[in-house]
Amino acid sequence: MKFLVLLLMLTTCAADPQDLTGKMFTFPQEGNKAHVRLNTPKQNFKVVTVCHRSFTDLKRNHGLFSLATPNYFNGFLIYYNYSSREMEPYVRDSRSKYGGLDYKPNVWHSICTTWDSGSGLMQLWFNGQPLTKKYVSSGEISGRPIIILGQEQDSHGGKFDPTQSFVGMMTDVHMWDYALSACEIQKYMDEQNFTPGNVLNWAALDFQITDRVLIESKQMTCH
Ligand SMILES: *[C@@H]1O[C@H](CO)[C@@H](O)[C@H](O)[C@H]1NC(C)=O
Repeated sequence: MKFLVLLLMLTTCAADPQDLTGKMFTFPQEGNKAHVRLNTPKQNFKVVTVCHRSFTDLKRNHGLFSLATPNYFNGFLIYYNYSSREMEPYVRDSRSKYGGLDYKPNVWHSICTTWDSGSGLMQLWFNGQPLTKKYVSSGEISGRPIIILGQEQDSHGGKFDPTQSFVGMMTDVHMWDYALSACEIQKYMDEQNFTPGNVLNWAALDFQITDRVLIESKQMTCH
């Protein structure tokens, strides 16, 4: 019985997910260390939806969401290419490009990305707007995923490049292993109630912070 209680305590401590509702991660400086690792026991994805909100004034390339597997360091990556002014989502190292976006500095941007291995198609949603569906890659994202915010992985869990690091704020990160419906994505974009991620859930997030990343209240305006 004692052993069972100890075991329960150990397993709950190991997972220890936190409810970050109303909070954000602040990445206050450039470098190749500061990041947040998001943990999930799930692997082998046939379908993916990832949503996040971010705020930055960076005038260079930066990663917003970096998922690496042993075989594909850009397993599922949302990357902003500043020189081409394009949002570049990667799946299994294949890149697709979304230009013509109003990616203004110093405002929140809500971005959702869906991808289905069956068709190989992806679709980006940007601030409430569904964008053109594009072929990127078919075949599963397999192997143990390492998911990182704040840095872009050029290896499985490392090789961070400070010139691709994220500086700014990030919140409401969710990931699903299915395609969220258009209505659910719209609800996410409008900050209404939506079905939280079943792979990553901001309201029950299992994560580790390395170096200077702060958890702060999302509220930034005075009422
Ligand atoms: C960004 O886009 C430019 C122009 O299309 C391209 O030459 C460059 O390789 C891209 N940079 C990265 C890091 O993907």
